[in-house]
Amino acid sequence: MQIATTRDVLRNAVAGLRRQGAGRIALVPTMGALHEGHLTLVRRARAEADHVVASIFVNPRQFGPKEDLAAYPRQLAEDAAMLEAEGVALLWAPTVEEMYPAGFVTNVSVAGVSEGLCGAARPGHFDGVATVVCKLFNQVQPDMAFFGEKDFQQLAVIRAMARDLDLTLPHADAIIGVPTVREADGLAMSSRNRYLSPEQRAAAAALPRAMRKAIAAIVGGANATAALAELEAEMTSAGFTSVDYAVLADAASLAPLTALDGAPARLLVAARIGGTRLIDNMAVMPALK
Ligand code: PAF
Repeated sequence: MQIATTRDVLRNAVAGLRRQGAGRIALVPTMGALHEGHLTLVRRARAEADHVVASIFVNPRQFGPKEDLAAYPRQLAEDAAMLEAEGVALLWAPTVEEMYPAGFVTNVSVAGVSEGLCGAARPGHFDGVATVVCKLFNQVQPDMAFFGEKDFQQLAVIRAMARDLDLTLPHADAIIGVPTVREADGLAMSSRNRYLSPEQRAAAAALPRAMRKAIAAIVGGANATAALAELEAEMTSAGFTSVDYAVLADAASLAPLTALDGAPARLLVAARIGGTRLIDNMAVMPALK
């Protein structure tokens, strides 16, 4: 596996992959601290493309001033070994100065889907994501790119950004969302789970459990507002400090719903346990009409 840390080396390495034949190049963008969820993205990319380029970049522009940028886990050597073992051809691991050279003044901002949910709680976060992903697409020029559904709103923001800026990745349906990988007790895998103490980690399983229960109630015809209030109560009694949001939303627009309307819906939750903010989302089957 080749490792590129400058744009020049990256450009040459991508050109080298393109010279190897007409094969498709898949991009798997990450911030490192890799876990089984990321490796699942790489395996999907390997199955659907001929060459996989992974990126590791802890993007300062998507962290708020009071967020965990400095503390965010960094383990490049360990991550590189994992990616190499999965058959990644090229790792793009730029420094902050390489990604945002002195004088960088551009911001990519997506309205609409970025505005509620995590966008409301983390001002500027999705601008940072859209800006870096736009740059990654331009730098690597992949045929397709893979993202986890765990960050469901992020996926919607990236799809809107690519559509609106004509970042037409050649492969049809090129921005591919991969279902969330979960621990045995249902907790969605996340690099932030390592911040949890053993007690908090045990309590965190209440999040997917309460979500499944709320979905069963809503699909069964219960009032969605009451089911979501019950979800919040269960999570706080299990040890969560607060629930930022617990929202039933249209799966495409992410507009909040008060009841199922026959279109695919999604339950999205963000909650804090001690100083750690966890997010999760699950499909809610629409009621049959
Ligand atoms: O999901 C992530 O890890 C990041 O938000 C991404 C897409 C790599 C952009 O920095």
